[in-house]
Amino acid sequence: MRTLVSYVSRTGNTRRVAEAIFDGITGDKDMKELGQVESLDGYDLTFVGFPIEERFSPAEPAATFLRRPEVAGRPIALFITHGASDDLPELQGWLDNCAAAASQLELVGVFHCQGELSEQMAQKMLLSEDERVVAWAKTRESGIGQPDAASLQRARRWALETLAGRRP
Ligand SMILES: Cc1cc2nc3c(=O)[nH]c(=O)nc-3n(C[C@H](O)[C@H](O)[C@H](O)COP(=O)(O)O)c2cc1C
Repeated sequence: MRTLVSYVSRTGNTRRVAEAIFDGITGDKDMKELGQVESLDGYDLTFVGFPIEERFSPAEPAATFLRRPEVAGRPIALFITHGASDDLPELQGWLDNCAAAASQLELVGVFHCQGELSEQMAQKMLLSEDERVVAWAKTRESGIGQPDAASLQRARRWALETLAGRRP
C-alpha cells in the first residue's frame, strides 16, 4: 500500500494539515507539492489538499489537476481548508463545488477545516461587491490560529481511518 500526500498551499495552512496527515499515516508514503506531481502511477491512494479560493472552488493548480484525464478513476481523498467558520451557511455549497471538481475520480473521503485567512486577503475581500465574499471575510476572527492542534489531530485520525478503509 503506497500513499501520496499532495497539497497546494499559499499561506501554509493546508501544508500544515498535509504534514499532520503525512506524519500520522503508516506504510510506504511520499509527500509532494501538487505542482510537482507528474503521475499517480504506483500509488494506491492519494490525498489531495487545497484551500478554497476564487469562485468558491479548489485553488489552482488543484482544480486543473483533479480534471486531468490521466487521474480519472484514481482513488483520492480530499483535504480542504477554508477561511469560513464551520457554521457559515454557504460553506456546504463550497465543499460540494470541491467534490464536484473531483467527480471523475474515485472519491474515498473528504476532510475540511478552517484555516486562518490572511489579514491582507481579508482587507481585499471586505471591498468585494459580492456580498457572500464580504460575509465570510467578516468571520476571519473566528479562524485566527487555525488550523489548531485539535484540527490537526482530527485530520490525522481521518487520514488513518481513510487509509484503513482502503487496505485489502
Ligand atoms: C484568493 C483567495 C480566495 C479565497 N476564497 C475563499 C472562499 O471562497 N471561501 C473560504 O472559506 N475561504 C477562502 N479563502 C481562504 C482560504 O481558503 C484559507 O485561508 C485557507 O486556509 C488558506 O490556505 P493556505 O494557507 O494553505 O493557502 C480564500 C483565500 C484566498 C487567498
